[in-house]
Amino acid sequence: MKYIYLWRRRLSAPDGAFMEKYIINGGNKLYGNVRIQTAKNSVLPILAATVLTDKKVEILNVPQITDVKNMVKILSCLGCKASYEEDNIIIDSSSADCYEIPSALARELRSSVFLLGAVISRFHSAKIAYPGGCDIGLRPVDLHLNGLKRLGVQITEKNGYIICKCEKLKGNEIMLDCPSVGATENIMLAAVKAEGTTVIKNAAREPEIEDLQNFLNRIGAKITGAGSGTVRIDGVSKLYGCQYQPIPDRIEAGTFLIGAAMCGGEITADGIYPENISSLIHKLAENGCKIHINNDRIVLENHKTLTSVKSVETRPYPGFPTDLQAQYTALCCICGGHSIITENLFETRFKYVPELKKMGADITVIDRNAVVRGVEKLKGASVLAYDLRGGAALVLAALTADGYSEVLDISHIDRGYGSLEYKLKKLGADIKRITV
Ligand code: UD1
Repeated sequence: MKYIYLWRRRLSAPDGAFMEKYIINGGNKLYGNVRIQTAKNSVLPILAATVLTDKKVEILNVPQITDVKNMVKILSCLGCKASYEEDNIIIDSSSADCYEIPSALARELRSSVFLLGAVISRFHSAKIAYPGGCDIGLRPVDLHLNGLKRLGVQITEKNGYIICKCEKLKGNEIMLDCPSVGATENIMLAAVKAEGTTVIKNAAREPEIEDLQNFLNRIGAKITGAGSGTVRIDGVSKLYGCQYQPIPDRIEAGTFLIGAAMCGGEITADGIYPENISSLIHKLAENGCKIHINNDRIVLENHKTLTSVKSVETRPYPGFPTDLQAQYTALCCICGGHSIITENLFETRFKYVPELKKMGADITVIDRNAVVRGVEKLKGASVLAYDLRGGAALVLAALTADGYSEVLDISHIDRGYGSLEYKLKKLGADIKRITV
């Protein structure tokens, strides 16, 4: 309860009022259970989807993270009403009356772009500033916009804004050049109430897409195929309300498992879908960890120096997730032997590498590859989080380093991890949040 209170207090503070950092004394092993939060990347598009219906939707166990806070703020600006009951959020979009997504918030949150599909469906108009989010590469939105155009939306881009208009949305076949998660979700949202059938080919297959399908079907949509490369949406005219529990956060789960592998000890990650992170589980087993899977829990045990895995490449699901690349690279830093990590999705996702080097890591980045030569021990240092997952990687490195580290600007980490230090402390880590 104390942490829910602190989270609410922090998130209700004026922007920039808090500059916070972690102080971490490394070296403790991790033991115990950690309950995995609901998936950020499911909750965000589902929140966007609530604009489609004028009936109340209750989303259960929303993670206590800033991205959710910002999405809810945007919904409020659109005229939706949001209220909390414990960790559940109730959205009532019956009073939504605005189709312009405020630019300051859109720049804070990349997922604000998902609102385009839902807002166009509701108002036949939408205006949004180019979305922000983690600075991990170019992150274009051409596939989102081309998909919307195929459904009949006219789009103009002016002074950093995307302006959309349409008389009516009409189903169509859309072939994505690459399986973009956001574009697949945005097109699904726009197509739910379009006239006729939409078929998305080369769709992203991430579990969060299937979760969005399940949510939309619960409120009355007719969607099949999510989780495969072809998603079919038969337009419907009426939607309803529902209560919905999104899937667990496979990236948070992966972060804790990597942390336990690095620090040593034995942890149980509870409330997860192990098959959703099987690419990571296989790598951790190759690294030498003992892993037991039992329904919705994974037990990871490690008591020795990890063995390096020669190469890891990020790929769309079910490949190795780009959102675990930084954390896994941190692990490679203390493996016996060398590893090559290749980032295939985002151009500048190695920004955390110079920070790891301050801790004694031996990494050379060549284009999209990081060549990591394992060292026996990292050492404590003052490091700066530049983005969400890179920030998490620095925390993991600090947990295993000799002596004290400080991880600065943890607002990036708060975007995606709820109560991270509380959960780590419960596992035995020595970590403190300090407000400066
Ligand atoms: C989503 C996730 C993010 C994850 C990423 C890849 C959310 C809120 N975020 O981001 O955590 O890292 O999937 O798993 O769910 N691309 C284009 N044009 C577009 C859109 C994408 O070229 O219009 C490219 C991107 O540059 C990138 C690739 O497609 O190389 C994949 O990006 P995408 O799947 O769209 O990522 P996001 O939806 O932004």
